[in-house]
Amino acid sequence: MDAILSTEPLAGAASRGAGVATPVIPGGIVARDVQKSFRTGARTVEALRGVSVTFPPVGFHAVMGPSGSGKSTLLHVLAGLDRCDGGYVSVAGQRVDGMNEGALTLFRRRAIGVVFQQFNLLPTLTALDNVVLPGVLDGRPRDGLVARAAQLLAELGVSDRADHRPEALSGGEQQRVAIARALLLEPAVLFADEPTGNLDTANARRLWSILDQTARERRLLVLMVTHEPEAAAHCETTTVLRDGVVADTFDSHGMDPGKLALRAAGTGG
Ligand SMILES: Nc1ncnc2c1ncn2[C@@H]1O[C@H](COP(=O)(O)OP(=O)(O)OP(=O)(O)O)[C@@H](O)[C@H]1O
Ligand SMILES: [Mg+2]
Repeated sequence: MDAILSTEPLAGAASRGAGVATPVIPGGIVARDVQKSFRTGARTVEALRGVSVTFPPVGFHAVMGPSGSGKSTLLHVLAGLDRCDGGYVSVAGQRVDGMNEGALTLFRRRAIGVVFQQFNLLPTLTALDNVVLPGVLDGRPRDGLVARAAQLLAELGVSDRADHRPEALSGGEQQRVAIARALLLEPAVLFADEPTGNLDTANARRLWSILDQTARERRLLVLMVTHEPEAAAHCETTTVLRDGVVADTFDSHGMDPGKLALRAAGTGG
């Protein structure tokens, strides 16, 4: 770990005292030489083979790459949903690798939000109660939570669905409820893993605009895994993973989706 910090200074952030490297942890995301393997029986898959990435505290950024390249694994490690085997991970000013379980639980609940391709709403709760749930689990008073949840649902254009259960909502509506839930406790980073994978084009486009606007207006970092070049063209940068390493990073905002697809595939653009 010390070697990582001393060989790859974090914008002059590593300082030393009593012979021990003491990183000054910046906001946004800093990951260095992150490794993660999965063992299934006799077979070992090296999903991340030394990934180093940096994202600023505010903005909309994409991760692309072929199926199996390690995108979801990286997101899970950064979001504290899975542990890396080696490397350095800091997110929103907190050192995530090596964090104990109690601290990780609070980190996941308060510092970050996550949305997935599957909306993961609880089927027995109304949209509003789904949004309120993380705050209830965090022991906060329900009244304030309900007011904030209602406001978020209104901002995301689904206030008229607040009293409905997920089964009565379209995919696009469910994903907007899932975003409201992820934003309830004002996270510093919102992670989205193929958030429009189950949506039609019109709803997908609406969602990309929402994520872009969310990053800018709420001053947070939105990191999105996507297979859609059009989605990545909404993002300031696109980082391409291939075989568990970063193959490319480029400014992608406003890029022609066709060119972006070629660049992400490593064949030009
Ligand atoms: N829990 C797990 N157990 C075993 N292998 C896993 C596990 N999770 C991921 N892998 C393997 O790690 C590699 C990276 O998987 P990952 O899910 O990160 O890929 P991905 O880039 O998100 O792919 P996709 O675009 O299909 O979602 C793959 O070879 C995958 O099979
Ligand atoms: Mg994936």
